[in-house]
Amino acid sequence: MNKAIYPGSFDPLTLGHIDIINRSLNLFDHLLIAVTDNSRKTPTFKLEDRIKFIKEEYNNHKGVEVLPFKGLLVDFMKNNGIKTVVRGIRVFSDFEYEFQMALTNKQLFSDIETVFLLSEITHTNLSSSLIKDIIRFKGNIDPFIPNSVKKFLMKHQKEFL
Ligand code: PNS
Repeated sequence: MNKAIYPGSFDPLTLGHIDIINRSLNLFDHLLIAVTDNSRKTPTFKLEDRIKFIKEEYNNHKGVEVLPFKGLLVDFMKNNGIKTVVRGIRVFSDFEYEFQMALTNKQLFSDIETVFLLSEITHTNLSSSLIKDIIRFKGNIDPFIPNSVKKFLMKHQKEFL
């Protein structure tokens, strides 16, 4: 089976992530979406909620599995028998970080391949950090996030103000 992993912090899931997931599913039979905390950022949403958003969007999709992970991505990949990582690139400034991660992962686990998908042009401006600002200042986030996150925010809006 043709498997890949799409790792990220998904804090929260955006339509940009959904675009990358859907297009990965055209390339791979099985996509493991691996949710973790990025050591460079403090998460706004709890890990369990971030996982719930993805599960709700891909409920009953046979090709999608969602799991949390801690530690090195390469170790998690080895434990799950996966050698392909998918990452999205929105703008040129994403490239430097992605390039460093892909090469470092390759040095840690030489069998690994990173596949970069360029974001759909309508999503290149989307970032979880900008979305969190819009949430905090009560702007309209509807064009940027999927229903699972909208529903959650309607219920928990106060916690984010
Ligand atoms: O969505 P993000 O926050 O850009 O995702 C970054 C992520 C989670 C993919 C990256 O921080 C990661 O792989 N973390 C796990 C720890 C690890 O393996 N670090 C070394 C990467 S070279």
